Amino acid sequence: MTVTEPDVRSDDATAFDQLIAKVRAEFDTQFTWDYERGRDGLNRLYEKAKRSQWNVSDDLDWSIDVDPERMIRLQAEATGVPAGFPARSLLDVKGSPVASWNDDQWVDFAVNSQCASLSQFLHGEQGALICTARLVESVPWIEAKYYGSTQVVDEARHVEAFSRYLNEKMPTTYPINGNLKSLLESVLRDERWDLVYLGMQVVIEGLALAAFGLMLGTSQEPLLKALLRYVMADEARHVAFGILSLQEIYADLPADEFRLRQEFAYEACDQIRRRTLNAELWPNYGIANEEIEALLPKQASQQSFQQILFSKIVPNCKKLGLLDHRDGWLRERFQEMHVIQFEDWENTAEALSLDGPVNDEAARSFDPENLEGVEIIETITN
Ligand SMILES: [Fe+2]
Ligand SMILES: [Fe+2]
Repeated sequence: MTVTEPDVRSDDATAFDQLIAKVRAEFDTQFTWDYERGRDGLNRLYEKAKRSQWNVSDDLDWSIDVDPERMIRLQAEATGVPAGFPARSLLDVKGSPVASWNDDQWVDFAVNSQCASLSQFLHGEQGALICTARLVESVPWIEAKYYGSTQVVDEARHVEAFSRYLNEKMPTTYPINGNLKSLLESVLRDERWDLVYLGMQVVIEGLALAAFGLMLGTSQEPLLKALLRYVMADEARHVAFGILSLQEIYADLPADEFRLRQEFAYEACDQIRRRTLNAELWPNYGIANEEIEALLPKQASQQSFQQILFSKIVPNCKKLGLLDHRDGWLRERFQEMHVIQFEDWENTAEALSLDGPVNDEAARSFDPENLEGVEIIETITN
């Protein structure tokens, strides 16, 4: 069973148009003529970012040969989790469309699932690149413009890294998932710049940190592991940037405005919750997404997998006061989603040591083997 690549013909006059998507937005671009730098947290983050730059071309060993099928089999051996998990739990479901699949088919599915995940990472990274560029334009604080500009460079590097990995090492790339696309578009259409922070820095990047941590916890492929470590160290700063900035904004926000942020956070979480069923994958195996949607969400393994993706978002929302505003409205939503158990996990701003002196000698040395903010998430096996 082989998955074919999307039909985009380079000789077609419309091919280029098919590869371009536009979002129309109206928002204020803000200059600030106040160069005073009073926000210590953001200043420290900016110093940390400038010392933590790495280069996709030089710092990763692209000579490593990657055999995707072997990588999946090795991973299954090493982790004890069979290839194609958690979808593979549908093997035991009577009448499921994959009930007759053998191990080779699951390995093929797992390779494509890995391609699909990496593709969504790639597209999400481009979304982050564009959202961060927007922030640099629209945020009125000089410290945030400074820091945001380092994140623009980080995100370009992440797009470059995932794109190169997919092109050089993996068999195929998938288009952006519909839910991720509509979330990115709604973030970018909004004129309120703080919603870019909330949608991108807190929700999408929080999801990414957990997804990268999960992949790092299972993959046995050295190039991918190194790539993920570098990217995660950057992402932890990005999420911290969101938290530090939003804490200040939310401190003075009127209750009805804050309520809108609560609802926006929930809507964004709901969008990405519906993202995890591999909708871009199943039709290539002749299986309708409806069939999978009727079965897979009931599987305990799928539920655990989906829940752990919120392990960064929930504590960060708590840190921002979003859980308990308005009689715990978001807390209730997270309870319904069965993700409230993560509320007391370490939030990402605390995970980075931003309280130390800025010119501390240790902070000056950038050690790729010991990157701050890289947290491996244990494999889900039940
Ligand atoms: Fe990124
Ligand atoms: Fe990021």
